[in-house]
Amino acid sequence: MINSGQFNAYISEVSHFFPEKVITNKYFESYLDTSDEWIVERTGIKERRFLEKDQPTSYAATRAIEKLLVKRGLSPDEIDLIIIPTVSPDMVYPATACIVQNNIGAKNCWGFDLEGACSGFLFALITGAQFIHTGMHKKVIVCGAEKMSALVNMQDRNTCVLFGDGAAAVLLEPTEDKSYGIIDAILHIDGSGGKYLNQPAGGSLNPASIETVEKKMHFVHQDGRTVYKEAVKGMYESSAEIMKKNNLSPDEIAYIVPHQANLRIMTAVAERLGLPKEKLMVNIHKYGNTTSATIPSCLSEYWEEGKIKKGDYIILTSFGAGFTWGAILLRWAI
Ligand code: ACO
Repeated sequence: MINSGQFNAYISEVSHFFPEKVITNKYFESYLDTSDEWIVERTGIKERRFLEKDQPTSYAATRAIEKLLVKRGLSPDEIDLIIIPTVSPDMVYPATACIVQNNIGAKNCWGFDLEGACSGFLFALITGAQFIHTGMHKKVIVCGAEKMSALVNMQDRNTCVLFGDGAAAVLLEPTEDKSYGIIDAILHIDGSGGKYLNQPAGGSLNPASIETVEKKMHFVHQDGRTVYKEAVKGMYESSAEIMKKNNLSPDEIAYIVPHQANLRIMTAVAERLGLPKEKLMVNIHKYGNTTSATIPSCLSEYWEEGKIKKGDYIILTSFGAGFTWGAILLRWAI
């Protein structure tokens, strides 16, 4: 039982923002030993979007949240709480949530950033839902937002082709009908996986210095093969467990929305769960891995395209640095 409170939290609106600048695989071909063919075949990524130099993560989050408020017909003052899952905050502090709150002029809310790497959106969604369950808040925004282009070494072909920038936001509101909204969650962390995927400098262990810059320690480092294997296992096991726990067969699931890190990982997870490819939400080909924005941006695009119906059972699943992973079961309520 994830909720003993009076209300379930449901997603009442969803929106996304991707910057205009499109970076195709050809761009990387122009200066690195890589090819469009390799990138598409090994990852499923055809292009990604990059923010401009003077546009930080808060810029993308602000645009996504402004759109969310317009779609739901709300004024910024009606928002109670803003949670921003991100690994690319504008700065170490203040929190990006504070910058976004000021940008949108939300005068009656509080907020914070949450660091769960690629599982950040799932962790933030469950965190936000708790404030709805207890009745403390009625309108909570969870906005996954990233400027991954600021964190990758553009000379490292192993990582730079994988990531993109963008943001996507959901609004959580209460419903007394507990058969809708966020139904269940299975979430994990395992710090022993930290060595396989990290950004080693910039924190208190390795503060910025000439040495950390020279050793390129401010960029994403990963052992791609280990992360790949663990990601398939973690997302499959948590999704299978949540289906079993809620007595749901593959036929009853409308969609699985995996974190978009690699199309081969996502396809392997869906296949193992017995879900056909029409039930796999995908937008990695257009945007690459936007870390905490991948799952809500998929939901937003599919919702805008009229592909999600009220009552649909949807599994969100992710795996990321930490390691962090898990699955959330939703029943679409709008
Ligand atoms: N172009 C051409 N060749 C490349 C490229 C590239 N862009 N990148 C790597 N290669 C090479 C490697 O150097 C290697 O060459 P070698 O055999 O001579 O050493 C070869 O391709 C094969 O490398 P693999 O690592 O086996 O390739 P793989 O098929 O595993 O694909 C990838 C690599 C795409 C990174 C994959 O392992 C992957 O997606 N891993 C998971 C990534 C992930 O989920 N990250 C988590 C998200 S990040 C976060 O949480 C913040």
